[in-house]
Amino acid sequence: MEFRHLGRSGLKVSEISYGNWITHGSQVEEDAAKACVQAALEEGITTFDTADVYAGTRAEEVLGRALKGQRRESLEIFTKVYWPTGDGPNDRGLSRKHIFESIHGSLRRLQTDYVDLYQAHRFDHETPLEETLKTFDDLVRQGKVLYIGVSEWRAEEIARALKIADEMGLDRIVSNQPQYNMLWRVIESEVVPLSEKEGVGQIVWSPIAQGVLTGKYQPGAAPPAGSRATDEKSGAVFIQRLLNDEVLNRVQRLKPLAEEAGLSMAQLAIAWVLQNPNVSSAIVGATRPEQVRDNVKAAGRTLDAELLRRVDEILEPIVERDPAKTISPARRP
Ligand SMILES: NC(=O)c1ccc[n+]([C@@H]2O[C@H](COP(=O)([O-])OP(=O)(O)OC[C@H]3O[C@@H](n4cnc5c(N)ncnc54)[C@H](OP(=O)(O)O)[C@@H]3O)[C@@H](O)[C@H]2O)c1
Repeated sequence: MEFRHLGRSGLKVSEISYGNWITHGSQVEEDAAKACVQAALEEGITTFDTADVYAGTRAEEVLGRALKGQRRESLEIFTKVYWPTGDGPNDRGLSRKHIFESIHGSLRRLQTDYVDLYQAHRFDHETPLEETLKTFDDLVRQGKVLYIGVSEWRAEEIARALKIADEMGLDRIVSNQPQYNMLWRVIESEVVPLSEKEGVGQIVWSPIAQGVLTGKYQPGAAPPAGSRATDEKSGAVFIQRLLNDEVLNRVQRLKPLAEEAGLSMAQLAIAWVLQNPNVSSAIVGATRPEQVRDNVKAAGRTLDAELLRRVDEILEPIVERDPAKTISPARRP
């Protein structure tokens, strides 16, 4: 495994991290979840990403149990706050009340005294940014949270937060967690240049587009048994927009490129996001340990310029680049 700094902070994270959205507490049974975490640890992954909202808080519980007994200093545990964790008006968002209540729940479920990174899962248009940042800063001072990050924030939102933090002497954001992969490049024009200047690192999600960039979804064919597209509980909804023939046909055309480079399709996709030096880590998901073992081999791989050019040539008509596609709900969900 290779390690990178989380933005300009002193924290090092594994280039490939493991995330448990859709899988733990939902798509896969606990034994399979634990086997994936064990494979991740054996392959040198030290960074684990979850959120209070995943599987209605069960994902944090599963991860807590799966990591139990590991040396805490050898792990970086990331979680998030914003999406609803209950029915009440204060069970969501980035108010002081919800942030404090949510972190206490997360620490309990994860069975740890602190999380390494606490992330605002979206921008909350209903809470003053000062209130959120002051609360995060309090958590850092209490030692419950070591670093602060955000997820799916626009460049102007990150810039505003950094300005307020500097003016008020508060802890600064060190990371952003956006969707980023060969098909979804909306951070490249605004978020990445700002982040490079300000020392904010990207911890990117869905680097293999939820499995689509592995090429296992064939155009015109039913999705493979057990894959996310067949997970009626939640996965199928999220992957649906990618399962059209235009996307799937073009993805198939990447296969010879991966073969020539001596990479699996998943490794090509993960290595591709890691070519961006502003990316601190690629968070991969997995339902089976073999997937983790395949994916980690992307660490430390350099892709040459000609390969990158050919990837662009194939995918260009279906690449999304519009920074306006980064959207937080206007009202709390
Ligand atoms: N901040 C946010 O808003 C946000 C949003 C989404 C995700 N995330 C984070 O990012 C993490 C990763 O997201 P993701 O799960 O969508 O990422 P992903 O790595 O693009 O997709 C993971 C899924 O692809 C399939 N897969 C993985 N490796 C494979 C391989 N080698 N061969 C074949 N299939 C493979 C598996 O699904 P099947 O086996 O079921 O097909 C796996 O669950 C999440 O767990 C979460 O931590 C954050």
